[in-house]
Amino acid sequence: MCGIVGYIGEREAFPVIIKGLQRLEYRGYDSAGVALYNDGKINLCKTKGKVADLKAKAEQEVVLGGKIGIGHTRWATHGEPNDVNAHPHYSNSGDLVIIHNGIIENYASIKEALIARGYHFESDTDTEVLVNLIEDIKKNEKVKLGKAVQIALNQVVGAYAIAVFDRTKPDEIVVAKLGSPLAIGVGDNEYFIASDASPFIEYTNNAIYLEDEQMAVIKKGRDVKVRQVKGDKVVNPYVQELKLNIEQIEKGGYDHFMLKEIYEQPEAIKDTYRGRLRINDGIIKMAGIEDNLQKFLNANRIIIVACGTSWHAGLVAEYIIEELVRIPVEVEYASEFRYRNPVINKNDVVIAISQSGETADTLAAIKLSKEKGAFVFGVCNVVGSSIARETHAGAYTHAGPEIGVASTKAFTTQITVLTLMALKLAQEKGQISRSDFYNYLSELEAIPEKVEQTLKSDANVAAIADIYKDAENCLYLGRGYNFPVALEGALKLKEISYIHAEGYPAAEMKHGPIALIDEQMPVVVIATRKGHYDKVVSNVQEIKSRKGKIIGVVTEGDKEVRGLADHVIEIPETSEILTPLVTTIPLQLLSYHIAVMRDCNVDQPRNLAKSVTVE
Ligand code: M6R
Repeated sequence: MCGIVGYIGEREAFPVIIKGLQRLEYRGYDSAGVALYNDGKINLCKTKGKVADLKAKAEQEVVLGGKIGIGHTRWATHGEPNDVNAHPHYSNSGDLVIIHNGIIENYASIKEALIARGYHFESDTDTEVLVNLIEDIKKNEKVKLGKAVQIALNQVVGAYAIAVFDRTKPDEIVVAKLGSPLAIGVGDNEYFIASDASPFIEYTNNAIYLEDEQMAVIKKGRDVKVRQVKGDKVVNPYVQELKLNIEQIEKGGYDHFMLKEIYEQPEAIKDTYRGRLRINDGIIKMAGIEDNLQKFLNANRIIIVACGTSWHAGLVAEYIIEELVRIPVEVEYASEFRYRNPVINKNDVVIAISQSGETADTLAAIKLSKEKGAFVFGVCNVVGSSIARETHAGAYTHAGPEIGVASTKAFTTQITVLTLMALKLAQEKGQISRSDFYNYLSELEAIPEKVEQTLKSDANVAAIADIYKDAENCLYLGRGYNFPVALEGALKLKEISYIHAEGYPAAEMKHGPIALIDEQMPVVVIATRKGHYDKVVSNVQEIKSRKGKIIGVVTEGDKEVRGLADHVIEIPETSEILTPLVTTIPLQLLSYHIAVMRDCNVDQPRNLAKSVTVE
């Protein structure tokens, strides 16, 4: 989704903004723009396409100097992706300039009223309406920019993270947030504004994360003034010290972030269980669970809400929690749950899973659950994100920044946290024997090594990718714990290689998808020894009889599937409930190699955004 960058201080703003926008490219976008203040003028440049196109265009067309500026990457919502609809947007007088991430839902009626008052519009965007509303208020009410922004935001319905400045008062930037993220980097006599910390982490580790319905006036050389958008309450901003470092958000020698992130999984899984999994003491430490233990133990059921890959992690968790803890679990798409008037009550525990912690539908599902009295627990990767703040308690995955749009290490670390939770609850509920508990802990501790070993199949997977790179369709099948892995494998392939792919429980094949199988159809079957092996072998035979091309993900030493499949990828054996942590690895590699061979933009696939902050 849209990315926001701003700068005010003593440096040249243009390079800071361009680099910052490049760091936000992972969020997904289709156009970009920048506005810089210089010598009484605002120089603005915007273009459809990439930040590199913007940089080239700006270098040719505009004066690049200036120590205050804003930049934007736009993921189109209102109006097609083109130069005119790209941000920043001027107000009619040309004095105000704005960037915006979010959607102003009532923009049409505001626009109509502004047109009646003589305003004209060049773009189709809701953002141009907002900047003119601010201008109109500023003029008519004779108030400062900050006040005008506040009054305007009280009139709009929707979501926003905005940054706006005024040509006639070029020593301040006004920002505000509701629903979309906004961080302020606090430097030495300088401030940075961004959708996340990655654009400014090389300059400062200190950041203020605005809460929903907060706004700030940022002036060079002064403290940031934060207040509520509604009412006049002044807020004391909390300056947080960030642990992030620049290496974590760079490619570190890999061709793509996705590949780097696939290879980071052994460490990411370790980081996620470190300090929590204490084999020697025979315990799992998780403060978020311990502090709310009775809520979990007395829960009538657990409802998991999430989207995309996080939803797949939720499905794995359903199997694990029901198996180990014996509490009923339902897994819901957040986007459906929030609109379908679900039955929720105070004895329900809702677990919201999200890498970014900003997904709009998941946030809305959380708010709804809270309204209905449920206890809401978050599993997030991004520290301080909206979901982390909005939930009653939670547990972070410690995957580190995930930049590739296709989730990889987020998925395996989510499963790691959810497994730890299930084991902890099973122990607290007296539902698991000491020896089983201990065995699971040691198996979990061994997973990073097994993932490492699985990564060694990379060359084999690349060779298989080369054979199927031109396929038009692909089926993924798995049973039990490997069914969500099949869904995840199919999602990875579609999102980065644009090959149509479907994931199914293997036994469901007979109820429809089997009709698709012919000699052109690659079928990826996850057929690990633990996990209804014999049944899956029968499914493999059914595919073979119909001449489908079989790619088997099998346990090392497997003979039966090897005898039937066209290709096999071996993984080390682990306990059944932990299998997804390993079987998902070759599927990530397969989609990665196919996408590279098809010349696709692996890290920023078309039409997709890393964090989906609009519904
Ligand atoms: O940040 P979240 O985990 O809430 O994001 C949810 C989905 O948008 C995300 O998993 C998406 O499906 C990924 N592109 C999958 O690779």
